[in-house]
Amino acid sequence: MGSKKITIVGAGNVGATAAHWAAEKEIGDVVLVDIVDGVPQGKALDLSETGPVEGFDTRVIGTNGYEETADSDVVIITSGFPRQPGMSREDLLEKNKEVVRSVTTEVAKRSPHCAIIMVTNPLDTMVYLAKTVSGFPKNRVMGMAGILDTARLRTFIAMELDVSVEDIQALILGGHGDDMVPIPRYCTVAGVPITQLMTKEKIDQIVERTRKGGGEIVSLLKRGSAFYAPSASAVQMAEAILKNKKRVLPCAAYLEGEYGLNDIYFGVPVKLGSDGVEAVIEVELTDEERAAVKKSAEGVEKSIAELKL
Ligand code: APR
Repeated sequence: MGSKKITIVGAGNVGATAAHWAAEKEIGDVVLVDIVDGVPQGKALDLSETGPVEGFDTRVIGTNGYEETADSDVVIITSGFPRQPGMSREDLLEKNKEVVRSVTTEVAKRSPHCAIIMVTNPLDTMVYLAKTVSGFPKNRVMGMAGILDTARLRTFIAMELDVSVEDIQALILGGHGDDMVPIPRYCTVAGVPITQLMTKEKIDQIVERTRKGGGEIVSLLKRGSAFYAPSASAVQMAEAILKNKKRVLPCAAYLEGEYGLNDIYFGVPVKLGSDGVEAVIEVELTDEERAAVKKSAEGVEKSIAELKL
């Protein structure tokens, strides 16, 4: 059996950094695609030349076309425009929808059995578009958002309590926007809910910082948006699929009745294995949490409607 193949479309900040994580992890051959002549080729060669130093044998190639992407097992789509200060993720919709539409068409043609992991924003809407354009079953089209959002929350909890990030688990439901729904009752430090370890005021502050976590990075960078944590999160999803790990991770998944929602991509805990999204996990919610989920879903539905599919 040959190596697995991962295609990453977009060789910008998120895409090139994803190629870096994937190459180091040796989870498959990496094909990096971008429209800009020379950039994916140059970054792929530079990354290949890192192998002798870091000790990986991953084959990395860069290209402006799609021939080399044929028969990929996983395709991570990061092509499109990032936010600039003052922009919401929704402000990217018009520009990014044409990019995502054309890239998905090319990818689906050559890798009809792949799993697509969307990263381009507005995330929940772009992944919905990719499902429609590819015609793939729902288990093979998913979005990266929840791992990133919970990683931010886990980081802030660790900072506050001065404990290892490794011992912190967190749950966030909903769209990848400021209306996302962190659920502190289900956030734990080694199994102990944070509601027993922090005051409500502190938790509220951390939740608010998490909701605006992407914007915080955009305003610091001033040009573009976060890329280390987003790319690492996308590669974690790819690894779970390629190694059939059955990891339970928060991802944007297509819902048909779960959480009372239909025909929408939404952040929920899922089981990720070789069939992609193998299950959506439903958790019990209070009335207040359910209302917050509904509000977040309304925002995503409005954005999907703007695609005019
Ligand atoms: N095909 C291939 N690549 C494309 C296309 C296309 N049609 N259109 C744009 N690109 C490439 C650009 O040339 C650029 O190299 O996508 C890359 C985007 O890289 P950056 O501008 O560095 O943006 P990045 O920070 O990587 O974010 C990409 O991910 O997190 C989201 O909101 C973010 O939507 C944004 C996306």
